Amino acid sequence: MPFDPNDIMKDRITDIGPPKYDNFFPPYIKENYGKWKYHEILEPGVLVHVAETGAEVYTVRTGAPRLMSVDYIREVCEIADKHCGGYVRWTTRNNIEFMVDDKSKLQPLIDDLRSRGNWFPMGGTGASVTNIVHTQGWVHCHTPAIDASGIVKSVMDELFDYFGSHKLPAQVRISLACCLNMCGAVHCSDIAILGVHRKPPFVEHDRVQNVCEIPLVIAACPTAAIKPKKVGDRKSVEINQNRCMFCGNCYTMCPALPIADGDGDGIALWVGGKVSNSRTAPKFSKLAVPYIPNEPPRWPTVVQTIKKIVEVYASDARRYERIGEWIERIGWERFFEKTGLEFRHEHIDDYRLAMTTWRTTTQFKF
Ligand code: HEM
Ligand code: HEM
Ligand code: SF4
Ligand code: SF4
Repeated sequence: MPFDPNDIMKDRITDIGPPKYDNFFPPYIKENYGKWKYHEILEPGVLVHVAETGAEVYTVRTGAPRLMSVDYIREVCEIADKHCGGYVRWTTRNNIEFMVDDKSKLQPLIDDLRSRGNWFPMGGTGASVTNIVHTQGWVHCHTPAIDASGIVKSVMDELFDYFGSHKLPAQVRISLACCLNMCGAVHCSDIAILGVHRKPPFVEHDRVQNVCEIPLVIAACPTAAIKPKKVGDRKSVEINQNRCMFCGNCYTMCPALPIADGDGDGIALWVGGKVSNSRTAPKFSKLAVPYIPNEPPRWPTVVQTIKKIVEVYASDARRYERIGEWIERIGWERFFEKTGLEFRHEHIDDYRLAMTTWRTTTQFKF
């Protein structure tokens, strides 16, 4: 039935959940489900999985911008129809994977993808820089300090060679979040790009009591910088600017506390996080560069700083060492020395459990 705005509950369908995942399995995936014997990476972007029955599945992984038009998705579907029996999948890092069940179908698929310029760049496998997990930025969210898509495009352009090759000691996961809500994976990535503010929010006293629930605002602040205050006969809040570290959490709760600022906002870079348990336990990423200004549309300083970190890591780390493992082996003082990054007071943790991050040993390198 068509939707009737005058009877909105009529014929309403709800709580049906997503379609079952295996409805969309290619037949050869369904047949060999749970029976895989081994896999190999044949070349950057191309994998083969071999099942106990001897069945082979070839996967071609291609980069994607994540934010995409329906036209682009139709082109993906057209490729999938032509080569893959109409099946296709997306990865957890928003790459696209095309699969074929016979080696003879692999080269035509690769040739077709390559013939489409750089719309479907192959890569993202093995010791590469794969896709950047990122957020909404200025395209859609109201709390960002930086853009997402623009910076991601600029960084991937500069690191493009690393996407389609395996020349790093281990995989390098880069992620971006446009504010420190950190939607996504910035807190657990080899290199993380994070939007930060440097000025306290502006308090629109005439609006606070109308649009905000003041106790929520007060409780939102991690450093207790906010207290209630009467301004004339209106209820509002006062922000102790010396306690505010510009997290923007009070603005998330209260639209009358805008914090975005063209000059103040910019990028912090973090390094050394990982989520896998291989060799060493998962790690949080740690602050490497406290602030780089927003420089749209190509963000050259951010791009060059990331490139420098990747290059120093690539030339200095041992095989299989993730960025965090490399830094912990050589020591943070060596990391700053080798990359030429400046160590500043902002690097020193000063939040609650900060003491555990200071050095309680005489072991260090001059
Ligand atoms: C796991 C973390 C999160 C994910 C994956 C996520 C994902 C999303 C997605 C997919 C949208 C819709 C985007 C669109 O329609 O274009 C969205 C919107 C939004 N998210 Fe999240 N989100 C996360 C965490 C958060 C958190 C922690 C907050 C705030 C504390 C937040 C605040 C918002 C807001 C305010 C919007 C609406 C933006 C707008 O329409 O202007 N999100 N989020
Ligand atoms: C102490 C706090 C947190 C811890 C310990 C934590 C830990 C982790 C870990 C270990 C992963 C990787 C999981 C995996 O790939 O298997 C992860 C991923 C993720 N986290 Fe967090 N997280 C925290 C806070 C947050 C916050 C505040 C947000 C968003 C508002 C967030 C959003 C996400 C998202 C969206 C992913 C998936 C990333 C991806 O699939 O690439 N996390 N987190
Ligand atoms: S990281 Fe912050 S600004 Fe970016 S989408 Fe998430 S909540 Fe919005
Ligand atoms: S921006 Fe963050 S630290 Fe500053 S007052 Fe708001 S919640 Fe507190």
